[in-house]
Amino acid sequence: MSNFYTENVLAVRHWNDTLFSFRTTRNPGLRFRSGEFVMIGLMQDNGRPLLRAYSIASPNYDPELEFYSIKVPDGPLTSRLQHLQPGDEIVVGRKPTGTLVLDNLENGRNLYLLSTGTGIAPFASLIRDPEIYGRYDRVVLTHGCRFVSELAYGEQLVQSVLEDEFLGEDARAKLLYYPTVTREPFRNTGRLTHLMESGKLYADLGLDPLSAEEDRAMICGSEHMLADLKALLLAAGFTEGNNAEAGQFVVEKAFVEK
Ligand code: A2P
Repeated sequence: MSNFYTENVLAVRHWNDTLFSFRTTRNPGLRFRSGEFVMIGLMQDNGRPLLRAYSIASPNYDPELEFYSIKVPDGPLTSRLQHLQPGDEIVVGRKPTGTLVLDNLENGRNLYLLSTGTGIAPFASLIRDPEIYGRYDRVVLTHGCRFVSELAYGEQLVQSVLEDEFLGEDARAKLLYYPTVTREPFRNTGRLTHLMESGKLYADLGLDPLSAEEDRAMICGSEHMLADLKALLLAAGFTEGNNAEAGQFVVEKAFVEK
């Protein structure tokens, strides 16, 4: 049996010069937990797939799969992926995995989903999973980007969740969205680390300051961002969770091609 499913591209959307998302068919045999990642790729002339890890941006109940990607000009895979058209085939690994899943976190008051760049992808899955609204009083989706145009996918995602026939009521009561931009003017500016250290994030949202006893967090972004936010949470007394034991925060690198 092959290690991969072959799926068909159903739709592609380009959000700006550097970011796009696409949806594919989903083999009914592919099971995953919202927030996990999977290997995906394109077949090469040598008959072997060229693969990279991608967070699955769609929730576990969705009959289709969604992925959110950067376009790296010389990236071996993304330079080809960005030209995907409906009807094209991609391969999808049979074994999704990952740590950004609700089972790895203790329940609590406010859940902070801390993302930068394409690190929002696993949270696109999680905020569309109704389970998250059963576990937390507030779900705070933060998204730090360099430029305003990089927020478009997240903005549209949040809007669609708030308007969703099934999720909308819970999301309108519990989901808070905090986009912030670092390299041009916007209504929120500055790095997430600074906004948390200064307390501005909580003040802007009308929430109590961060508390390891009550709050939980998931982190997804570049290596530096992960290191800094992890240090911030550890200093605040948070314990890290994993697939063996639930904790107060979990971490995963955003899978960006170098
Ligand atoms: P900045 O513009 O100040 O570097 P990148 O594209 O490099 O992954 O960055 C995406 C966003 O994450 C940018 O807004 C960037 O801010 C921010 N960022 C980069 N490194 C960190 C970090 N160590 N902690 C928090 N935010 C970071």
